[in-house]
Amino acid sequence: MPNTALITGASAGIGTEFARYHASLGGDLVITARRKTALTALKKELEAAHGIKVHVITADLGVAGGAKSLYDAVKKAGIQIDILINNAGFGEQGLHTDHDLPRELGMIDLNVKSLVELTHSFARDMIAQGGGKILNVGSTAGMMPGPLQAVYFATKAFVNSYSQAIDEELRGKGVTCTVLVPGYVETEFADVSGLTGTSLAKGGATASSVAKVGYDAMLKGKLVVFNELKLNFAINWVIPFAPRRLVLRIVKSLQTK
Ligand SMILES: NC(=O)c1ccc[n+]([C@@H]2O[C@H](COP(=O)([O-])OP(=O)(O)OC[C@H]3O[C@@H](n4cnc5c(N)ncnc54)[C@H](OP(=O)(O)O)[C@@H]3O)[C@@H](O)[C@H]2O)c1
Repeated sequence: MPNTALITGASAGIGTEFARYHASLGGDLVITARRKTALTALKKELEAAHGIKVHVITADLGVAGGAKSLYDAVKKAGIQIDILINNAGFGEQGLHTDHDLPRELGMIDLNVKSLVELTHSFARDMIAQGGGKILNVGSTAGMMPGPLQAVYFATKAFVNSYSQAIDEELRGKGVTCTVLVPGYVETEFADVSGLTGTSLAKGGATASSVAKVGYDAMLKGKLVVFNELKLNFAINWVIPFAPRRLVLRIVKSLQTK
C-alpha cells in the first residue's frame, strides 16, 4: 500500500517526531524545512534505522512562492503523497505594535497561506489518487484570542477552523483532514517565539508524545485532537463560559515576561 508522508517543519520539534513515528511504521518520507543539515541528519538516521526512503526538500514556506516550489519539487521527483502533515509554524511574543510588520506577515504566510496552498494542492491529488490523509497542526492557542501573541493565536484559529471545514468538504472522497491542537510542547518553539521565561512556556508535553497522539488520530480520520484531556476540558467547558475580559487578562499574564 502506498504510504509516503510529506512533513513540513521536520528539522526540529514535533515535525521531527512525526517523521520518526511514520518511519517506525515503515513509511517513506518527504521531509522539508529551511535547515538542510538537520534534515539530512534525520534522513540518515531514519533510512538506517528503518530501511525506508527519505527525500529532503528544503523550502522557505514563509515567503511567497515557497509552498509552490515545494509542491513543484515533489511533482518533479514523481513522488505520490499519501499523507500530508502541515506542521511548520512559529509565534512571536510581545505587543503587535512593537513587532516588525514583515515578521508578523511572514507568520501569516507560513502558518496560514502555505498551509492552505499545500492542503489545496495535495488534497486535489489525493482525491484523484482515491485517498489520502491530512494532518494540520493547529493549537489550543487557536481556541481563544492571545494578547502578546495576537497574530499567532489568530493564525491558529484559522488553522483550527479551516481544517474542520475541509474535512467535511472531503467527506466521501476518501480523504480526511484532522487538526491537532496541542497545548505547550517542549521544543525550539519557545525560544524561536520569544516565550522562554513566561508562565506559558513551562512544564510542556514532549514532542514525541504529541506527534504520536496527532498521527494516530489522523490515521483514524478524527476531526480535532487534543494531546491532553485536561486541555480538552478547559477549552470546551471552562473558557467559553468565562468572561471574555478575564480570559484576555489570563492569557496576557501567561505570556508576560
Ligand atoms: N511547541 C508548542 O508549544 C506548540 C504548541 C501548539 C502548537 N504548536 C505548533 O506545532 C508546530 C511545530 O512547532 P514546534 O513546537 O515543533 O516548533 P519548532 O521546534 O520551533 O519547529 C518548527 C519547525 O518549523 C520549521 N519552520 C519555521 N519557519 C519556517 C519557514 N519559514 N519555512 C519552512 N519551515 C519553517 C522549522 O524549520 P527551519 O527552521 O529549519 O525552517 C522547524 O522545523 C507549529 O505549527 C507550532 O505552531 C507548537
